[in-house]
Amino acid sequence: SYLLAGFLLGVLLSTGVFALCVRHVNSERQNNGTGMILKLGHSLDQQHPVHLALEHMAQRLQEKSAGSVELQIFPNGQLGSETECIEQLQRGALDMTKTSTAPLEGFLPEFAIFGVPYLFRDDAHAWQVYTGEIGNELLLKGSEVGLRGLCYLDAGARSFYTVKKPILTPNDLKGLKIRVQESQTAMEMVEALGGSPTPMSFGELYTGLQQGMVDGAENNPPSFYSNRHFEVCKHLSLDEHARVPDILLISEPVWKNLSPQVQQWVKESADEAAEFQRKLWQEKTAEVLQAVEQQGVTVHHPDKLPFAQRVKPMVDKLQETPIGSLIKRIQELP
Ligand code: GCU
Repeated sequence: SYLLAGFLLGVLLSTGVFALCVRHVNSERQNNGTGMILKLGHSLDQQHPVHLALEHMAQRLQEKSAGSVELQIFPNGQLGSETECIEQLQRGALDMTKTSTAPLEGFLPEFAIFGVPYLFRDDAHAWQVYTGEIGNELLLKGSEVGLRGLCYLDAGARSFYTVKKPILTPNDLKGLKIRVQESQTAMEMVEALGGSPTPMSFGELYTGLQQGMVDGAENNPPSFYSNRHFEVCKHLSLDEHARVPDILLISEPVWKNLSPQVQQWVKESADEAAEFQRKLWQEKTAEVLQAVEQQGVTVHHPDKLPFAQRVKPMVDKLQETPIGSLIKRIQELP
């Protein structure tokens, strides 16, 4: 009878534990037992214009849903690097992430398109792609690998910044270790320009620069500023080699479990955040360029032509790959 009692106790305990687990999983996506929580992780700082846009989204979502859907934002890579967050989305372990499209190309090769150097003529050309047919096709394509795209967020143009000597021509990159995003296209671009690409997550970069693991990096001015890379890098060279946007992703398994009404609120507030951020971006970029100059950074305006010429063979080669037809469609846009 001891045996029987022990068995019964075991059953009781394990069902109890099981019930607790189920309760825990459910409560993770619920606030106060009434509404729903969506968790979003990203790698930027809280003063970054992209983070401000995500806060705008959270507010709009709260208003639309009368408080029943809460967007919880975890900035500064708290939930992992961009690649790690993307992987968590695929498994449904994280609901949403805001990432650069660069690391996404490891999951969906078409996203390499945004890393093609000097492909976009200007902001307007790039926005035509983000909000047009090509951009939308790619947002939806993500659902094939568990990553549904909601919208693009402006991330301007990327330029080099360095600790010691300024980059005025591609020759200046020779022998320099340059941090790149976890993206094949970014590696190839820096190599084509004559530098040594070193992939590293954004969160590790400040220390990487400070400890001399890399001699420089490349990014848009608001990220150069808000992550305080200007404290170490005193030269910013606006060669604007690539326009790599940010993208807002939601886990496809999570999306499928949302009611059509919640899906609509999420999509609408994402679009509103993108619009809000597009305006904010220009303003913030001008502001931070002034701010870094005040902090002792020299902002250089090198001639872009030699850079574009140096990467031309790389771009020509990409024309022969599966993304070749996308490159052509983008180039042909008026
Ligand atoms: C941009 C982008 C970030 C990304 C960063 C990087 O700033 O907005 O999402 O992390 O580039 O270089 O990794």
